[in-house]
Amino acid sequence: MSWLIKPLEIHRKLIGDHIRNDAFFSAMKKVVKPKTTTVIDLGSGSGFLSFLATKSLDAKRCVLYESDPAAMSLSKELAHNNKITNLIFRNQDSREVKKSPHKGEVVISETLGTYALEENILETLRHGREFLTPDGIIIPGILRQYVAPVISSEPNDTVVGPWSSAATRYDLNLTAASKRSASNMYSLKIKPEQLGGDRRMFDEIDFNRDPVEQLKSVRKSPECTVYGFCVWWDAELVKGVTLSTSPYSEMTHWEQCYLPLHPTLKCDGEDVVSLTIESDSSNNEGCLVDWTTTQKKNGRVIARSTNKT
Ligand SMILES: C[S@@+](CC[C@H](N)C(=O)[O-])C[C@H]1O[C@@H](n2cnc3c(N)ncnc32)[C@H](O)[C@@H]1O
Repeated sequence: MSWLIKPLEIHRKLIGDHIRNDAFFSAMKKVVKPKTTTVIDLGSGSGFLSFLATKSLDAKRCVLYESDPAAMSLSKELAHNNKITNLIFRNQDSREVKKSPHKGEVVISETLGTYALEENILETLRHGREFLTPDGIIIPGILRQYVAPVISSEPNDTVVGPWSSAATRYDLNLTAASKRSASNMYSLKIKPEQLGGDRRMFDEIDFNRDPVEQLKSVRKSPECTVYGFCVWWDAELVKGVTLSTSPYSEMTHWEQCYLPLHPTLKCDGEDVVSLTIESDSSNNEGCLVDWTTTQKKNGRVIARSTNKT
């Protein structure tokens, strides 16, 4: 059935990421009490996390919310094949639930994107507290986002290069297409040696409180050309278990988030480069991200550019 190909392909990638799986399993192991804990799984996909909670950790029950009917039907079939019976399936977007008949001591949601907020995790977990018993635990608990300038041209060559090489090869002007490609957000592998200077944390969200967006970062650049920015996150799933998409950590299926710059910025040691990231993840069709870069010399703005996805 062709309609299963797309969702299956997403879940195949997730399930192949043992760093992700092990981190979520370790986090649940710390908080799931056998035969006692109810787990509410928001965005349950293939049902994998709920299967770990019930079959491996003996949770009392799991309630699975999944908006995609194909993924939900797959999870039911897998549960049946694994003889897991203490599951309640809800084929709906969890954010539409007005008053939940089920509460859990643990609410878990793996709705993290390469750009952490792109799968609406803010909205899902803000509403997700509705499903929590008093003193219940939300996984992930804390999310931190980081940024560093990219001073190697390689990632830009990867995203814009195909247009330039086709333009040269067939004598065409494809500049407009290159420009649009430079205004997109990418999932790419960024190597630590492609980064310039210090990384900076620009956002910290504690899901146990109402999440507040603070998306701003400023840093002083070394003498270099800045080709774009690498953005990554650390999710403290529970205390002592952190999952990271940092270029300094082992690679996950999320890789790193790359925000290219067009035009690139030539900086000397005195220049200060500011980056402002604005994102709207309330959009059901995806996540809109704008990034504005300002370059200042001796306090005076000498360049500014805005990229929009
Ligand atoms: C990244 S997958 C994770 C699947 C599974 N939890 C796992 O870890 O293998 C996220 C899934 O959440 C679903 N989803 C995202 N937000 C949701 C929401 N608020 N309510 C229900 N489903 C949601 C998507 O359709 C997708 O299948």
